[in-house]
Amino acid sequence: MTENKKLKKWVEEMAEMCRPDQIYWCDGSQEEYDRLCDEAVARGSFIKLNEEKRPGSYLVRSDPADVARVEGRTFICSKREEDAGPTNNWMDPEKMKDTLRGHFKASMKGRTMYVIPYSMGPLGSEISHIGIELTDSIYVVTNMRIMTRMGQAVLDVLGAEGDFVKCLHSVGAPLAEGEKDVPWPCDANNKFISHFPEEKAIWSYGSGYGGNALLGKKCFALRIASAMAKEQGWMAEHMLILGITSPEGEKKYIAAAFPSACGKTNLAMLIPTLPGWKVETVGDDIAWMAFGKDGRLYAVNPEAGFFGVAPGTSMESNPNAMLSLTKNSIFTNVAMTPDGDVWWEGMTDEPPAKLTSWIGEEWTPDSDKLSSHPNARFTAPAAQCPVIDPNWENPTGVPISAILFGGRRPSVIPLIHQALSWQHGTFLGSIVSSERTAAAAGKVGVLRRDPMAMLPFCGYNMGDYFSHWLSIEGRTTPDKLPKIFYVNWFRKDAEGNWLWPGYGENSRVLKWVFERCNGSGNAVETPIGNVPALDAVDRTGLDISDQEMAALLTVDPELWLKEVESIREHYKTFGDKLPQGLKDELSSLEDRLLQAVKK
Ligand code: GTP
Ligand code: SPV
Ligand code: MN
Repeated sequence: MTENKKLKKWVEEMAEMCRPDQIYWCDGSQEEYDRLCDEAVARGSFIKLNEEKRPGSYLVRSDPADVARVEGRTFICSKREEDAGPTNNWMDPEKMKDTLRGHFKASMKGRTMYVIPYSMGPLGSEISHIGIELTDSIYVVTNMRIMTRMGQAVLDVLGAEGDFVKCLHSVGAPLAEGEKDVPWPCDANNKFISHFPEEKAIWSYGSGYGGNALLGKKCFALRIASAMAKEQGWMAEHMLILGITSPEGEKKYIAAAFPSACGKTNLAMLIPTLPGWKVETVGDDIAWMAFGKDGRLYAVNPEAGFFGVAPGTSMESNPNAMLSLTKNSIFTNVAMTPDGDVWWEGMTDEPPAKLTSWIGEEWTPDSDKLSSHPNARFTAPAAQCPVIDPNWENPTGVPISAILFGGRRPSVIPLIHQALSWQHGTFLGSIVSSERTAAAAGKVGVLRRDPMAMLPFCGYNMGDYFSHWLSIEGRTTPDKLPKIFYVNWFRKDAEGNWLWPGYGENSRVLKWVFERCNGSGNAVETPIGNVPALDAVDRTGLDISDQEMAALLTVDPELWLKEVESIREHYKTFGDKLPQGLKDELSSLEDRLLQAVKK
């Protein structure tokens, strides 16, 4: 329990509005987790998986109208519209609260309000922050227990006077007296994912899925935290963090920002195909970074679990993810095998002869539907990852040597290039573009600009966010700053085949990054930055010809001049807020390209 008066008062007020039948304070214990899972099974929400095959694990099927983040229903409700900026939906905070009070009013009737105290970041670390989520969903409570440090220990750290981010969540499906519940209650037509950055509050209504409902993740650790980071001089980024050790035993940490479903979890846990190299995982989705006393940038993973894309995950593509989810995991919208285990597209070459699909229908390999939703997810404890980094819970974080940006681009963008400076690296981040994926509702495959992979996650004006990135340079000396790179695993040939094998083979690219950080690794100067020389990416044991490698590394100035036009359009979005440094980088790029075309 707690002596924190602010907290008690807020819980009372919210309960007064939401009218739950009861209030339950989560202690975070295993006993509590098991009890809640049992209750969810009894209610028909969870399916207990075969204890022999998948101990301590559950399958959950969502409402087909609630399967991904809803960017169109996500709002940044700063007092001034300008502070939300051109890339966020904005509504006046008071108006939004009024609208939402209408929805939250008695929205928890017939249900329990769970109070979830949680810490983003290791308990008690200087960089950590506490949130309290109120929710009427057992799915949210159990997922939050895996994804965050949760329970009484957090209240103890909070103490009587501590501050917290107020997170209110309701699935928006009150139950009338005696009404039977559905397996996945939600209010699909009235979703609101609302953020109040000045108040440090989040009100989420109508959805029970992923980032819409597990409020510690995208809502707090990115949108609210990015606004806090800007104020306080640190960074909250949509980045994985990995440690890489060379055969000589030298270790470096690398952070990488790719848009949703573009390979962060895979890279974070990669098994190098290059002999003697080792990769260890610090985090797979979010990095909080701040300068250490030595002037270097240190990163902490604020999460405690993985909420990973299931389809495509296999012992071939990502064995460490597969080994992380062998037990104590929750699976959402995947298929179930007749013996009570899980399956999804890509898990094995041969699909099982018979399955129950994510919508609960009988499925065979002849079915014309997918067995699992493309945004089906596993929730697994990070501590179960076989290659979890020994420093993953280090309260001071890990020193970052390199930052990678990347996205899905079938053409134009080479396998890797290196920025010429921090400002140029910020420019590269600002022009990240990628084909849309199933991680958010909307049309898949459409190309869009997704600066720093933060388009859906920046909690304030993205123009100010660019300025914040540029200002990082002045906080230390150039030699201490991470080197910045841009990668593209997704380049295709004319027939539409991947040019690069990806996954574990990406270690070859990481090796070049590692070398560049040490001042070695051969590079060729191009108008867009430094690209590896033809033989600089180690191809030992890999069947890729010089010609194919050249295609992977091609920088076509004509195509890039078209890209410049598209970047100019993209930049118009930010109006006066676009910092001069980025305008300068764009015109320098154009100059270099024009020079190259003339030659
Ligand atoms: P979020 O959890 O949504 O933020 O996604 P993520 O960035 O962690 O992406 P994830 O690693 O889960 O990968 C998403 C999809 O990309 C999966 O279907 C992977 O199989 C695929 N993928 C990952 N790495 C590679 C790669 O190197 N090459 C190719 N071709 N596909 C990849
Ligand atoms: C993403 O979409 O980037 C995710 C999944 O990591 S969610 O938690 O739903 O945001
Ligand atoms: Mn993500």
